[in-house]
Amino acid sequence: MDLDIRLVDEKDIAILDKHLSFGTPGKHQKRVALQKEDKGLYLIAWEGDVPIGHVFIKLDGPGEQAVKDAVGTFPNLEDLLVVEEKRERGVGTKIMKEVERQLCERNYKKLGFGVGIDELKTIEFYKALGYGKADVEPFKVSWKNEKGEKDGETCIYLTKDLSCS
Ligand SMILES: CC(C)(COP(=O)(O)OP(=O)(O)OC[C@H]1O[C@@H](n2cnc3c(N)ncnc32)[C@H](O)[C@@H]1OP(=O)(O)O)[C@@H](O)C(=O)NCCC(=O)NCCS
Repeated sequence: MDLDIRLVDEKDIAILDKHLSFGTPGKHQKRVALQKEDKGLYLIAWEGDVPIGHVFIKLDGPGEQAVKDAVGTFPNLEDLLVVEEKRERGVGTKIMKEVERQLCERNYKKLGFGVGIDELKTIEFYKALGYGKADVEPFKVSWKNEKGEKDGETCIYLTKDLSCS
């Protein structure tokens, strides 16, 4: 697979809206803006000129204040996604490796994120990459889906001390 994982560029927004239109409307544009303000990193996985995955890193920590109070302030991963037809071919793992490389390059030493408490296979995926459960009570995360309806789930928080060389 001809895979390239790189930081988003403003000119990518239209193609991202077309191919990766899941989740909150306008999210690509919002993340590009946050990256411009040095508040986030938005990595896109490209197969040729088609985007097949993404992940956003919020550099100033988890959005939920209770979680931030419990774990501290370090980059927080959000919305890792690989399109369904490209899963289980190593793309998700490669995106996570690139996230860690980008963070190490910027001198960040830790990464964390919430995962749905019932998403056992996804939790296994992160555990295989060295992430472990932080000492944080399960917490609720809510968002608006593509129809603008409120959605949400209960999450646990995983972290990893990055081994930057
Ligand atoms: C989680 C996700 C990004 C993983 O991407 P991927 O490209 O399939 O990951 P990889 O191919 O690198 O998988 C690595 C391993 O984890 C396993 N795995 C990862 N996620 C899995 C899942 N949801 N179900 C079953 N197995 C999974 C793969 O089978 C593979 O196992 P192997 O190394 O023994 O072959 C992808 O499944 C996805 O987009 N899921 C929907 C969105 C989501 O749940 N995101 C996480 C939010 S916290």
